[in-house]
Amino acid sequence: MEKTSFLYDENALLMAPLSGYTDLPYRRAARRCGCRYAFTEMVDAASLTYARKRSEGMLLRGEEESFLGLQIVGANHDFLRCAAEVANEYEFSLLDFNLGCPVPKVAKKGAGAELGRRIDEALRCFEILKQYSRFPLTAKIRILSADDPEPTLRLCRGLAELGARAITIHGRIKEVFYSGPVNFNFIRMVREALPQVQIIANGGVTGLASYSEMRRETGCGAVMLARGAMGNPWLFRELQEGEAFVPPDLDELFDVMQEHVHGMVSLYGEEGAMRIARKVVYDYIRGRGFHSNVKAAISALSTLTDFSDFLQLARNSHAESYFRQQEQFPEMDRRLRPNIG
Ligand SMILES: Cc1cc2nc3c(=O)[nH]c(=O)nc-3n(C[C@H](O)[C@H](O)[C@H](O)COP(=O)(O)O)c2cc1C
Repeated sequence: MEKTSFLYDENALLMAPLSGYTDLPYRRAARRCGCRYAFTEMVDAASLTYARKRSEGMLLRGEEESFLGLQIVGANHDFLRCAAEVANEYEFSLLDFNLGCPVPKVAKKGAGAELGRRIDEALRCFEILKQYSRFPLTAKIRILSADDPEPTLRLCRGLAELGARAITIHGRIKEVFYSGPVNFNFIRMVREALPQVQIIANGGVTGLASYSEMRRETGCGAVMLARGAMGNPWLFRELQEGEAFVPPDLDELFDVMQEHVHGMVSLYGEEGAMRIARKVVYDYIRGRGFHSNVKAAISALSTLTDFSDFLQLARNSHAESYFRQQEQFPEMDRRLRPNIG
């Protein structure tokens, strides 16, 4: 079938929905580094139905966001219908149905990856969203078995028949959560079996080498980035520019991190923001050659003044040896460039 009906560019890089992370400030950091396609955090259909006010922050869309998908999770038919109707009052580029989340809080309600395993029921839920949503519909799934491609193929075929415009496949089973190898083979099999629907490959992309491997082994042009881009929004630029990519220096690292944290403060207020910003700051710092006292200082961040002291500390606590190590291992992910002058 013709490729013009695909939702994303052929070689699109998508930023994964990440619960507790991909709010507006997070997406802004990624946009600054070349990310075009992004999603909200996963929003629970029941919360959209009953606690719309509380979910409202998750539905925020920045003026500059030309593309934003809303991701919904749920298994109750009434809540899914209602969530689709609430979403219709906002502007999103598409509605994505989560059939891959393995966390107990979601599995307990029979939603996410748990629902994905009950293929017929998952398809009924998808159909409800399709019936009530005014947006293009997509789904994000996990492979359903590590040994047998058939269940994954059946789920994807059903979604395609119901009109899914794209399917993101995380190539790991529910039981392993986020660890271990990614099954490229099954992603490739689905892509070959369903040429009419755009398949997005997901799992384990952290740099140029893993990106090339993912594309080569699955045959997918479009790839979704998740943990590899946490604290490393430059990954978007790196994968777009390839060998020509110039990594950020410390100034740029601190600048992007600062804008991210300040954006969180505008959204959540200083106290709330600083509590949740610690994990974000940690992600920017980790694996980049900072001394251990910098990591230790993160847990004490409570105010913006603490944060500005922290930036000073980090600036003074970066190991020069990190740059030598990078020269020795040119394939290292999360690279930094020495500041000039
Ligand atoms: C902290 C965290 C939160 C996540 N939240 C979501 C979510 O809200 N919706 C979703 O579909 N997947 C979620 N995922 C899964 C990722 O989108 C992605 O499928 C997974 O991390 C595999 O990709 P990776 O190996 O590149 O990280 C989450 C993963 C992590 C680590």
